[in-house]
Amino acid sequence: MKHLLKMLDLSRQEIFDILDLADKLKYQTKHNIPHRMLEGKTLGMIFQKASTRTRVSFETGMYQLGGYPLFLSANDLQIGRGEPVQDTARVLSRYLDCIMIRTFAQEEVENLAEYGTIPIINGLTDFCHPCQVLADLLTIREYKANFDGLKMCYIGDGNNMANSLIVGGLKVGMQVSVACPDGYHPDKKVLDFAEQQGGFTLTGNPLEAATDADVIFTDVWSSMGMESEIEQRKIAFKGYQVNEEVMAAAHADAMVMHCLPAHRGEEITAEVFENHAQEIFDEAENRLHAQKAVMVKLMLPDAE
Ligand code: CP
Ligand code: NVA
Repeated sequence: MKHLLKMLDLSRQEIFDILDLADKLKYQTKHNIPHRMLEGKTLGMIFQKASTRTRVSFETGMYQLGGYPLFLSANDLQIGRGEPVQDTARVLSRYLDCIMIRTFAQEEVENLAEYGTIPIINGLTDFCHPCQVLADLLTIREYKANFDGLKMCYIGDGNNMANSLIVGGLKVGMQVSVACPDGYHPDKKVLDFAEQQGGFTLTGNPLEAATDADVIFTDVWSSMGMESEIEQRKIAFKGYQVNEEVMAAAHADAMVMHCLPAHRGEEITAEVFENHAQEIFDEAENRLHAQKAVMVKLMLPDAE
């Protein structure tokens, strides 16, 4: 694995290798066992969108690994004034050991990888959010021991989270069911992959998607960059909510997951959110452990 650009690029084995290393690093972190595997390495973090979890977990993770994280706001870089990403990639490759980027177009991340000579990590684009989904898979495996026979359900916008969850969920062997309104379906490349892979259903009916599910996911109705569509989306997504009725259709011990930030009363009720706060915040914590594993895999490819 040379980069982490999207879940579509990862093999099933690479996903499991990341999860296994994340488990090990989580244990070391929890038991204060030093694991300064990236001493002397520098991570540049480019943010073109807001972030709480991604920024803090990457920054802390790099520090715990003995490396140096550099926060680079796009507003302060020349990239924000139009310097092409191809040139930025070639310059930053001369200074840094790895780049994490959060931006809008997936193409920008792919260009960084093509023109740079160091590993690139996608910290969220409009197309996908692979770091989040690796943390989500880590959390599901912690709670359920393995993925065999599990049904994962996603209710809401066919956005970056849906795109990554479908691919990640299917690759590790779960059944995946998705409920989205017409006009808000996941990306065609993802649907093509899912159709080829099998074990996937797409419906307009949240209750149908949630039936007998073991894990229920949702995400905001309007993602970052869609601020002008908020009112129109509130109408389109009415009914696409994780609530008691949806939970009643799922298995009694179903987990609820949310990448956060959450909008209570929109995609999830306050009641369901609080009933499942334990797993939702374990999921947030696991960003740290999963990303540390990704950084070690990319910057120290021979590490176990
Ligand atoms: N889930 C997630 O990526 O959160 P942030 O936007 O706060 O980084
Ligand atoms: N779909 C959301 C995820 C935030 C972590 C967004 O892109 O804003």
